[in-house]
Amino acid sequence: MQMQWLAMIMCLYAGVASARTDEEDQQQTSSGVSSSLPEQCFYRPPTDCPDSSRCPCKRITLANEPEGNAALCCNTDGQALEYGLSCIGFAHSNISYVHIRNATLDVFNVYEIRWRMLKSLAITDGRIKKVQGQFRMMTPTQCLNLSNNALMEVENNSLIRLAQLTTLDLSYNNLTHLPVLNIMNGREFWLDISGTNTLSCHDVYQYINKTGEKQITFNRENETVCSSLATWHWFNTTERVPLTQLLYLSSLQTECPKGDTWQCQCDISRMDIIDGKPPTHAVNVDCSGMQLTELPEKLPQNTILLNVSYNNITVLDDLSTNPCYEDLREFFADYNNISSINKLEGSKFLDNYALLSLRYNKIKSLPTYILSPSAHNKNFMISRNLVRLGGNKLHCDCNTAKYLKAWLQARILDSDEVMCENVKEKVIDLEPSKMCVYPGDWTDYIYYIIAIEVILLIGLIAKVTYDYWVFKTAGYLPWPANKMPKLPCDWLFET
Ligand SMILES: *[C@@H]1O[C@H](CO)[C@@H](O)[C@H](O)[C@H]1NC(C)=O
Ligand SMILES: *[C@@H]1O[C@H](CO)[C@@H](O)[C@H](O)[C@H]1NC(C)=O
Ligand SMILES: *[C@@H]1O[C@H](CO)[C@@H](O)[C@H](O)[C@H]1NC(C)=O
Ligand SMILES: *[C@@H]1O[C@H](CO)[C@@H](O)[C@H](O)[C@H]1NC(C)=O
Ligand SMILES: *[C@@H]1O[C@H](CO)[C@@H](O)[C@H](O)[C@H]1NC(C)=O
Ligand SMILES: *[C@@H]1O[C@H](CO)[C@@H](O)[C@H](O)[C@H]1NC(C)=O
Ligand SMILES: *[C@@H]1O[C@H](CO)[C@@H](O)[C@H](O)[C@H]1NC(C)=O
Ligand SMILES: *[C@@H]1O[C@H](CO)[C@@H](O)[C@H](O)[C@H]1NC(C)=O
Ligand SMILES: *[C@@H]1O[C@H](CO)[C@@H](O)[C@H](O)[C@H]1NC(C)=O
Ligand SMILES: *[C@@H]1O[C@H](CO)[C@@H](O)[C@H](O)[C@H]1NC(C)=O
Ligand SMILES: *[C@@H]1O[C@H](CO)[C@@H](O)[C@H](O)[C@H]1NC(C)=O
Repeated sequence: MQMQWLAMIMCLYAGVASARTDEEDQQQTSSGVSSSLPEQCFYRPPTDCPDSSRCPCKRITLANEPEGNAALCCNTDGQALEYGLSCIGFAHSNISYVHIRNATLDVFNVYEIRWRMLKSLAITDGRIKKVQGQFRMMTPTQCLNLSNNALMEVENNSLIRLAQLTTLDLSYNNLTHLPVLNIMNGREFWLDISGTNTLSCHDVYQYINKTGEKQITFNRENETVCSSLATWHWFNTTERVPLTQLLYLSSLQTECPKGDTWQCQCDISRMDIIDGKPPTHAVNVDCSGMQLTELPEKLPQNTILLNVSYNNITVLDDLSTNPCYEDLREFFADYNNISSINKLEGSKFLDNYALLSLRYNKIKSLPTYILSPSAHNKNFMISRNLVRLGGNKLHCDCNTAKYLKAWLQARILDSDEVMCENVKEKVIDLEPSKMCVYPGDWTDYIYYIIAIEVILLIGLIAKVTYDYWVFKTAGYLPWPANKMPKLPCDWLFET
């Protein structure tokens, strides 16, 4: 009875002790990852390689681990690897740590059941073209090193089940795409993609954006570059983009205008990278379709393009008053509720803009002098200062037909879409001869009036002359002069 109790207590104690060492181990590994030096995968230098004339693999005993649960294989091809693994009895062993050096394989299949128990797998310094298949469910691998293999592809889903992976070394390969990483449970993740200069920046950026900078740590961050594919519109001009720039980009998202219910998108349109200097970048901000009623108050530095199309914006005051808008070169505010461009007068934007697009707004009148370059900008070039105003309905009159029409055709890109509010016609279809009919008639009336006045005057003079002649010859005044009341100055004639 007592012996049983003792055994039970000892068991309990052993359980607690082993749990504690587990904990300590975990603490050690996690602190190892969070420092700049990562946990190393099981790794042996070439000098440790077995004598290849016998078996290309050998078992190694690691400190604090059960005997012989690590294996090193060297200088193998596919066949030699199979042979090597069998001659160390890999299939029936409890090997958890494997390093395969200088293997020449077309395909390494991680789906094979023999890799299911591995805590660490390193396949380095060889020639492997492709990693294929998926690791099995619950594979406890924490460290995976595929460094220096000229690897072209790791299949998209290969690593998706490695829920405990914390260290992934893909350095010095020829990958263009990053496989999907299982980083869901918020653990620290350490990634080395240095020397894999062909890797798509877009893939890498997705992880930066997804996890935030804290979760994913890049080894040799300063030496890492990624490739901007032609399809990734952010970097058309730069082929190789330093990772540090990419990390910087993610901070851009925090500067991007946002409100409680809306969030603009900020992109880099171009980047000038000069060694030793902070990068200068040009930012595009897209706030289209956010139900905004006014322009965003703040924009990231160096914003050169702003798209606020499909909102309910009514005024453009910020363009001339807000310092954040100073670098703006292209402004798109199509489909809004803007009724006037008067506030743009004298703004810095008008001095330098490349494109102003106010299609489908509520603009009724166009003070052309505001958009006429000569007023502001002596360095005007016709290729710049482009304006689009299609879909607006101007108030049309004779002036519109005579002058504005020509101005639109000369200055407005989509002048054939500018409409009239009061006439069902496009402005460019207006005919001055039709629009100016009323003013033409009016000048004709003037002549009639003058003619009538001249006739009346002649009639009056004739009548006065006639009256005078009658008075002289007959001595009386004809009607109506004889009916007129006496006037104070009549005595002059009564002599
Ligand atoms: C992976 O292997 C390379 C050798 O090619 C080594 O330099 C590197 O330290 C290893 N990485 C890890 C995380 O063990
Ligand atoms: C790599 O292995 C091949 C045989 O597969 C061998 O010929 C070559 O010398 C090895 N390279 C190194 C650096 O050990
Ligand atoms: C492998 O480990 C299991 C328990 O984890 C044990 O039962 C088995 O004997 C071990 N096999 C070898 C070959 O050591
Ligand atoms: C890999 O997966 C991502 C999303 O999980 C997908 O966008 C991408 O097209 C996939 N790539 C390939 C080659 O299947
Ligand atoms: C892999 O990239 C290196 C340079 O990074 C290059 O020298 C080598 O030819 C590439 N290998 C393949 C198979 O494309
Ligand atoms: C960055 O993340 C936000 C949301 O978290 C997403 O809307 C945006 O598309 C991401 N950007 C890129 C380039 O993946
Ligand atoms: C990377 O470079 C920056 C400045 O160029 C430096 O401040 C930082 O310490 C470097 N980081 C590493 C890990 O070398
Ligand atoms: C980059 O190139 C793509 C196509 O190659 C093009 O659609 C895109 O507009 C370009 N982006 C910039 C900013 O020039
Ligand atoms: C502005 O946003 C609208 C709506 O999303 C889009 O159709 C348009 O192409 C954008 N314009 C530019 C120049 O990006
Ligand atoms: C503009 O505001 C009106 C109501 O004020 C709303 O019905 C409409 O959907 C809004 N349009 C846009 C594009 O936000
Ligand atoms: C657009 O502005 C006019 C006044 O200029 C206003 O009456 C109308 O409600 C506005 N429409 C929207 C959708 O905000």
